[in-house]
Amino acid sequence: MAILKIREWGDPGLRQRAHEVERVTDAHRRVVADMFETMRDAPGVGLAGPQVGVMERVFVWEVEDEHGAVFNPVIIARSEEVVENEEGCLSLPGLYYPVTRAERVTVEGVDENGDPVKLDAEDLLARVCQHEIDHLDGVLFIDHLSEDLRKEALRTLRDRALGLPTPQPGPKPVEEQL
Ligand code: NI
Repeated sequence: MAILKIREWGDPGLRQRAHEVERVTDAHRRVVADMFETMRDAPGVGLAGPQVGVMERVFVWEVEDEHGAVFNPVIIARSEEVVENEEGCLSLPGLYYPVTRAERVTVEGVDENGDPVKLDAEDLLARVCQHEIDHLDGVLFIDHLSEDLRKEALRTLRDRALGLPTPQPGPKPVEEQL
């Protein structure tokens, strides 16, 4: 297993749609093992393929004592109830903003053995699923912000890319890194 390089804002892969996986192979299982190791090392609670340069529709998650990998995930149902919570992303380190998400989602896909998997996710896991599936479509959490907050986030990212000092927020709980 290996810890993979997490791609950060500016990497074009973060803005592309990842490909459907036709068949889960040993190569996919190796990548999933590396993604788990990378997510735990970061540390975070979710990681999507494009964040490590793998342009395939797969994400891994770990919430409390449970974890899993989902290939070709599709949200087949979402609650009308929404919840707003601080969110961060391993590809946008140090940025945290409140994002409104469905409180519950049902996700279908296949696991690393190619077997069907169905997640009835709520609270944090529901947020992780929505955030990671966004990654597979080239969407970042800052895209969900109001125009003012998105501009502020983009300014911070641009300043950082130029090597300018940017506000450094205090440490945040692990569970907000997706
Ligand atoms: Ni993310």
